[in-house]
Amino acid sequence: MRIEELTEAQRQYYYIEQCHQWVAGREKALGRPLTAAVITFGCQMNARDSEKLTGILEKIGYHMVDSESADFVIYNTCTVRENANMRVYGRLGHMKQVKRKNPDMFIALCGCMMQEPEVVEKLKKSYRHVDLIFGTHNIFKFAELIYRRIHEEKMVIDIWKDTDQIVEDLPNDRKYPFKTGINIMFGCNNFCSYCIVPYVRGRERSRQPEDILREIESVVADGVVEVMLLGQNVNSYGKNLEEPLSFAELLRKICRIDGLLRVRFMTSHPKDLSDELIQVMAEETKICRHLHLPLQSGSTEILDKMNRRYTKESYLRLVDKLRAACPDISITTDIIVGFPGETEDDFLETMDVVRKVRYDSAYTFIYSKRTGTPAAVMENQVPETVVKDRFNRLLEEVQTIAADVCSRFEGSIQDVLVEEVNHQDPELVTGRMSSNIVVHFKGDASLIGKIVPVKLTSCRNFYYIGEPVQA
Ligand code: SAH
Ligand code: SF4
Ligand code: F3S
Repeated sequence: MRIEELTEAQRQYYYIEQCHQWVAGREKALGRPLTAAVITFGCQMNARDSEKLTGILEKIGYHMVDSESADFVIYNTCTVRENANMRVYGRLGHMKQVKRKNPDMFIALCGCMMQEPEVVEKLKKSYRHVDLIFGTHNIFKFAELIYRRIHEEKMVIDIWKDTDQIVEDLPNDRKYPFKTGINIMFGCNNFCSYCIVPYVRGRERSRQPEDILREIESVVADGVVEVMLLGQNVNSYGKNLEEPLSFAELLRKICRIDGLLRVRFMTSHPKDLSDELIQVMAEETKICRHLHLPLQSGSTEILDKMNRRYTKESYLRLVDKLRAACPDISITTDIIVGFPGETEDDFLETMDVVRKVRYDSAYTFIYSKRTGTPAAVMENQVPETVVKDRFNRLLEEVQTIAADVCSRFEGSIQDVLVEEVNHQDPELVTGRMSSNIVVHFKGDASLIGKIVPVKLTSCRNFYYIGEPVQA
């Protein structure tokens, strides 16, 4: 068959094989194995993409390591806030020296930051030691792009503006054998006025339910017991499919998969969280008792300027409904402080919601101006000192409440999925409850990936020390 007649996945396997031969040749010439490292910034979407990059690098024959002096280093970047970008430039500056010592090494960049034309211009001008640049829409072409870099012997740049393509069945390597993220949709259509994600991840596209179910069945057959369904707004899953299917319906189907024990998902946009979903969460015991429900602001006026399309009151009502249906549920959130025009009164509304909801934890962010978003040109940007002061007050409130909320399970017995041997104390293992709270207890590596009933003996602010209960 000619290469033009292959499916996209088959084409990529062809390039994987070609690169594999090249790697084998280099290893022979050098008399040592070639190594590769994937460095990930940003959210769970990027973490999952990095598993795909790792899968391809391994198939090509690279040996994965945790070091930026590897023969192939790829940075999977994030641009959601300014400091995410600064960190990448910092790493790249440092890599100039590293590459001087190993001139054969490849440095690659991909991810959300690469979808911004100014970034790519800057890289072309000032970071000539970078070998390969691609974006979020053509990550499936990774092997083909490596092949091009090998043969063209110059910087390769391939950025797509958008795509409607979803390429299935490419290799991927899971970071943990027992749990994984599963993309159910890509992109975002919400255009919250502060947020760059819709510009760098493109329009919302849902995967076909059959493809999702097939992927989950296959990872479960391979030892996975917990999946995290990923999307920028999972609650709008399936609306644009030829045969529409709601997120709640998808969840029901996923919960029927034998051998799968836990299902998580993120992120839930409050405006699209349906009663149907709340009901499914209440009924399906495999769905974890945790919901990440970003608030962003507690002020209805600011929410309106943010284009979030809910109000303080409707958000609080939603939380009440959730708690009525799932009494023990842990609720976590994201909050932005210092959005343009935020007054002290607006900020106090946010504090009020924090006190009313009593989150298990909250990620708090200082508003970061993202060029190209509507908020970047809004008037009344809040002075830095005011933002810092509000941020500190919010953080303190959030942490005090979280410590109190977290202790509600003290003395009870909870199922804990063991994730790893404790880094500080090898006599302990570390795992997570259904509510996502971390628990440390006595055990060894043989428990990794197992669900163990544990008595929660003492709460230490945000985590527990427990004792395994003999079955
Ligand atoms: N799709 C998710 C969020 C993805 S971005 C949702 O709708 O909730 C993760 C978090 O980063 C957001 O929830 C928001 O709190 C924060 N964030 C996004 N843009 C930001 C910006 N410009 N400044 C500060 N924080 C931002
Ligand atoms: Fe950004 Fe809003 Fe989309 Fe979340 S829903 S990714 S905050 S635009
Ligand atoms: Fe960052 Fe892209 Fe995720 S901008 S938060 S890595 S979608």
